[in-house]
Amino acid sequence: MPGVALRALAEAHIHAVVEACADWEELAPYGAPYWRPRSPAELQRRIAATAGPSLASEYSLVIVEDGVLIGECSIHAIDWRNRVGEVAVCIWRPAHRGHGRGHDCLRQLMSWATGYLGLHRLEARVLDGNEPSMRLVLSLGFVYEGVLRRRYLDGGRWRDIHMLAYVTDA
Ligand SMILES: CC(C)(COP(=O)(O)OP(=O)(O)OC[C@H]1O[C@@H](n2cnc3c(N)ncnc32)[C@H](O)[C@@H]1OP(=O)(O)O)[C@@H](O)C(=O)NCCC(=O)NCCS
Repeated sequence: MPGVALRALAEAHIHAVVEACADWEELAPYGAPYWRPRSPAELQRRIAATAGPSLASEYSLVIVEDGVLIGECSIHAIDWRNRVGEVAVCIWRPAHRGHGRGHDCLRQLMSWATGYLGLHRLEARVLDGNEPSMRLVLSLGFVYEGVLRRRYLDGGRWRDIHMLAYVTDA
């Protein structure tokens, strides 16, 4: 399997992202931002958030393989005073999952977040029952910290969210 590359979300990606998430109900059980149809406005806001020159509170990236967009990831909810950010990764199509792409992507994202953004604590929220996501973050050094009970509304059902974090010595 060729490696995945991360690129900053840009105007040129908007159409592809909206199309890829057309089946948002398949994605909704994995959490925000998939609980509603994606819109160009939401993506434009994310792009604008990184315009600088000051540091942003969120960075949105797309995951590219062989020139094709296969997913997205982000560092968001950044708290610069405490150098904390939250990570999220999504491989849009089920057929693309389970082949190491998520691991490759999160490893790159963590390296960038700690090495270039200077964050020292990365948090991950995993919806209860999302085994691939839980295994992914545990395999990259995240440690379980607790549960947020009935924290996410999923199609009329309240679900728990598990909190995990990766903490550097820096
Ligand atoms: C979660 C997600 C990013 C993981 O990426 P992936 O490419 O599917 O996973 P990988 O192949 O890199 O495997 C990562 C780990 O999950 C495990 N895994 C993968 N698919 C699995 C499955 N269907 N059931 C159980 N474990 C699974 C792998 O064995 C691996 O764990 P290990 O290192 O302990 O062996 C991807 O499945 C996805 O995008 N899911 C939908 C969106 C989502 O859940 N995002 C996370 C919320 S932030």
